[in-house]
Amino acid sequence: STLMILNGPNLNLLGTREPEIYGHETLADIESLCAKAAAEHGLSIDFRQSNHEGVLIDWIQEARNGFAAIIINPAAYTHTSIALHDALKTVSIPVIEVHISDPEKREAFRHQSYVGLVANRTISGKGAAGYAEAVAIAAKLI
Ligand code: DQA
Repeated sequence: STLMILNGPNLNLLGTREPEIYGHETLADIESLCAKAAAEHGLSIDFRQSNHEGVLIDWIQEARNGFAAIIINPAAYTHTSIALHDALKTVSIPVIEVHISDPEKREAFRHQSYVGLVANRTISGKGAAGYAEAVAIAAKLI
């Protein structure tokens, strides 16, 4: 089985983007971490990133056909996108939301998550390791 792992805007810049908040791991490092965690559960991953809301929505719709679960770090779209919320509401496979930082402990505009309202689980504030935890949770839920 394959997990679709989606990353939203600006996460392509991980490693150099506000490392005091997001750490020094690059998105490629996180992909390796996820692949390793998935392999431990006999799963494979399809790991993607886009800066575009509509592209993320197309990928969520694609995940409805044959993917075992969705792990998503929607980045700033977490706090703005009813469209992502609606797309995730249409899927019957498990959805796990991941944030590297803990948005609840940051600016007030990060406190609302439209994605969290439709996710089976949310992992926040655990850095890159949160992705590996999300993979383990996905393995349990599928
Ligand atoms: C983030 C938190 C969001 O508030 C922010 O817009 C991001 C990254 C995180 O992983 O901590 O881009 O999703």
